[in-house]
Amino acid sequence: MKVLAFSGSPRREGNTKIVLRHTLEPLTEAGFETEIIDLFDYDVKPCLGCNDCRKKEYCPIDDDLIPLYEKMKASDGIILASPVYFCAATPPLKALIDRTGYIARNNGYVFQGKAGGPIAVTAREGANFALAQINFWFSYNGLIVPGSSSWNVVLGEEIGEVLKDSRGLGAVRLFGQNLARLIYQLKK
Ligand SMILES: Cc1cc2nc3c(=O)[nH]c(=O)nc-3n(C[C@H](O)[C@H](O)[C@H](O)COP(=O)(O)O)c2cc1C
Repeated sequence: MKVLAFSGSPRREGNTKIVLRHTLEPLTEAGFETEIIDLFDYDVKPCLGCNDCRKKEYCPIDDDLIPLYEKMKASDGIILASPVYFCAATPPLKALIDRTGYIARNNGYVFQGKAGGPIAVTAREGANFALAQINFWFSYNGLIVPGSSSWNVVLGEEIGEVLKDSRGLGAVRLFGQNLARLIYQLKK
């Protein structure tokens, strides 16, 4: 069983990556295959609103989106994580949300019944907006999001500062544990 996690941070070894490693640890311990994808290593352009994906399960934009979409389809769990930039997710994560979400919805809700959830990493403010923004991808696409001890928000500004937010890290770790439990139940 596989869980695929996306990081929307341009800082490849920044706070979002640290948080994702904490989140995925319990899944790896439970025997899951896990993978983190740095979206800034890929070319994912914004949606052009052409609506071609209403006719066919594809996107006419020539970039890296479709291979990533296929990887998401092949995974049992999906995590979308972003640093908070002006109270929102970063542009490549938003592009992934728009395009994969629209192709999936227009072609039989292909992510329906999978599990996963959003994560927001923030210096101070705006995490609630970003978390809600990312969470809509899960609710609009029929995925099941497990709970935790709190919201999946971890605080930190300079790289490594998230390690001081034990409450936030505890929340994402419990989210990871619950995601493992949920996927086991869904696969029974
Ligand atoms: C352009 C930009 C905008 C930001 N906007 C916010 C913000 O609205 N609220 C906030 O608390 N932190 C904001 N931050 C700080 C980052 O969210 C914070 O440093 C985070 O830990 C970065 O995660 P990363 O190391 O994974 O990139 C911003 C940082 C940048 C570069």
